[in-house]
Amino acid sequence: MTALIVGASGQVGGLLLARWRARGGKAVGTAFRHGRPGLRSLDVRDAGAVAGLVAEVRPEVVFLPGAMTHVDYAEEHPEECRAVNVAGTAHLARAVRGTGAVLVHFSTEHVFPDGPDPYPEEASCAPRSVYAQSKAEAESVLRDLLPDRHLILRTSWVYGPEEQGKNFVYRAVATLRRGERLVVPADQYGQPTYSPDLADAALDLVAAGRRGTFHAVGPAFLTRLAFAERIAAAFGLDAGLIRGVPTATLGQAAPRPLNIRLRRGKLQAALGRDPIRGPDAALAALRKDSAGLLGSAA
Ligand SMILES: NC(=O)c1ccc[n+]([C@@H]2O[C@H](COP(=O)([O-])OP(=O)(O)OC[C@H]3O[C@@H](n4cnc5c(N)ncnc54)[C@H](OP(=O)(O)O)[C@@H]3O)[C@@H](O)[C@H]2O)c1
Repeated sequence: MTALIVGASGQVGGLLLARWRARGGKAVGTAFRHGRPGLRSLDVRDAGAVAGLVAEVRPEVVFLPGAMTHVDYAEEHPEECRAVNVAGTAHLARAVRGTGAVLVHFSTEHVFPDGPDPYPEEASCAPRSVYAQSKAEAESVLRDLLPDRHLILRTSWVYGPEEQGKNFVYRAVATLRRGERLVVPADQYGQPTYSPDLADAALDLVAAGRRGTFHAVGPAFLTRLAFAERIAAAFGLDAGLIRGVPTATLGQAAPRPLNIRLRRGKLQAALGRDPIRGPDAALAALRKDSAGLLGSAA
């Protein structure tokens, strides 16, 4: 099977590309600003380029981890965010519509408002930020244009091995290794999700012929402060440098949800296992597997 991975220079996309190939599949990956050898260049805002690449590669599966993911930048550049995350998704969906390919999209827990109970997949969206709104609209685009051939994985707080070294664990490890104070919100709860497990879950859903929307998040539900403390413990770093503060004091451009929890049972039922490790096992694996990368982040 041939896959096209749009956003293969990113955290999740890089793992999808490597793991798809490791399973014996053919794959073409794309980059936007962080090109590297072996990746094609693609801006999803260019409908003609998107259609041309799909026609050339003729994928049976298209993964779309590519997106504008910087939540605060998106808040201050709403048109650019919509052009990438909404129009870009539509360009890809239209390009694959007549081909029979399935399109796999990655969305976020931010499509929901804060709430006391875990959200099931079918709960109504009510996004608050520009980024979250764009992801909710992208989901709608896929359900409209590819009603029977989309997979949407909503995820949260993704971390793991990453060439660009920008996820929270890398930044936390680098800061603590320098002996600097790490300031994190103490009132934001989330479900840290280990990226290799997320990538494998996506590949397994495709292999099982699944379609529709799935929540793909880790088993722990904890504050950013508690997660930072787990990171410090896993990497043998000084947790005393971590300072938890209220989100309201951070001056972030985009509103942040404080308490959104995604229900996890549907993905486990579909795969017959719990595919995503908790933070302690995942951080131990990350420390072991990416000593070089995390070393260079320090
Ligand atoms: N990371 C999280 O905590 C998290 C949480 C919930 C949901 N998600 C969703 O999961 C997906 C993957 O996240 P990630 O952490 O892997 O993101 P990431 O590391 O920021 O990667 C984003 C990818 O999108 C590409 N891209 C950006 N603008 C583009 C454009 N105009 N045209 C084509 N490609 C473009 C980037 O290319 P260059 O780097 O080459 O510019 C990069 O490959 C995203 O859809 C995100 O919204 C992530």
